[in-house]
Amino acid sequence: MNRQNDTLVPRHILVTGGAGFIGANFARWVARRYPTTHITVFDALTYAGKRDNLAGIPDDALTFVRGDICDADAVDAVLRPTAADACASGHTPPAVDAIVHFAAESHNDNAIADAAPFLRTNVIGTYTLLEAARRYDIRFHHISTDEVYGDLPLDGVERFNEDSAYRPSSPYAASKAASDHLVRAWHRTYGVRATISNCSNNYGPYQHVEKFIPRQITNILCGLRPKLYGDGHAIRDWINVEDHCSAIWAVLTRGTIGRTYVIGTDGEMSNAQVLRAILRAMDRPGDDFEHVTDRPGADRRYALDAARITAELGWHPRHADFEQGLESTIRWYVDHPQWWRGDKAVTERRYARQTGERS
Ligand code: NAD
Ligand code: TYD
Repeated sequence: MNRQNDTLVPRHILVTGGAGFIGANFARWVARRYPTTHITVFDALTYAGKRDNLAGIPDDALTFVRGDICDADAVDAVLRPTAADACASGHTPPAVDAIVHFAAESHNDNAIADAAPFLRTNVIGTYTLLEAARRYDIRFHHISTDEVYGDLPLDGVERFNEDSAYRPSSPYAASKAASDHLVRAWHRTYGVRATISNCSNNYGPYQHVEKFIPRQITNILCGLRPKLYGDGHAIRDWINVEDHCSAIWAVLTRGTIGRTYVIGTDGEMSNAQVLRAILRAMDRPGDDFEHVTDRPGADRRYALDAARITAELGWHPRHADFEQGLESTIRWYVDHPQWWRGDKAVTERRYARQTGERS
């Protein structure tokens, strides 16, 4: 790593899951600000990943490798210190000195329908990467979720922080909790230089249309009614993906090894409030949606206290105005129908099957 203004800037980062929503936003964020850091995106390109999400990152800053994080040989092949191949521009990057691990199965409805891919990718995949980080002594940052802490009462004021107990309630959250435990164990037992961040619900461009906000935006654009689970009172703590990216960078470059950082921006809103904001921004009547059956065991409220990352690393969100962030997100989906149209039909068919199974 290079030392710049008291921070350790990686020379070559492996971004697992970098063709997905947050991983691609992160790769783009780093490429814009740290053009001398080489980025290798390692991604299986499941239904959730698109190579095109990385379009625009200069060829000499990016290597793309299609691979599965559960495949130990494929992981070893990109991380072996002598492994760096010339990228598309012919430039040969230095050995990977940091892994930022996003790759995961990430959607609760899918995990409820079939948890097997979640256990495989989120648990075995994380284990496989940790073993490689251990073998080559590579700095490891693990991306996780606030859902590992379970949920909070709807009417309370309590918020999760780094000391909150692990109480995952869904199969997805349980698989992420397991991966967090592996990271801590590999740090303590084998000295892997690891950090973990647990972030709240992200929104922004490149988010798959299965997720709440893009699903409702694209429903409206397709002439379908938005779908609100249950009574819509459930609360999520929304963060603009750009703020998540800057927080990850702060932890990666300045965080204390072995430590966990919770990331959130005091963005608590009920699902009904978010849906009303979308309807308003898209000039639709406030009651133009339908209620559908909620998930079994659905979490009620997530809320995070991000005091540690603020106090220790001086991190502050820059995009905490939700209405403004939502408007630019809506604009992105309006402007990029070719990005989501193909996924939309497949996703809605899958929802019809899944919610059919639930009711
Ligand atoms: P996503 O589903 O949009 O992207 C996941 C990416 O991982 C895809 O590109 C996919 O192809 C890739 N992938 C899946 N299985 C793989 C495998 N076996 N090998 C290699 N690549 C594989 O997910 P996201 O929303 O961008 O989430 C990224 C990370 O952030 C996840 O670890 C998730 O748990 C965490 N997180 C997400 C949120 C959120 O609001 N989306 C909030 C907090 C934490
Ligand atoms: P989601 O985006 O799937 O994120 P998570 O389950 O990780 O919080 O869902 C956010 C909230 O929105 C959650 O309470 C479920 C709800 N929801 C709906 O009301 N309608 C929908 O169509 C979807 C996908 C989610």
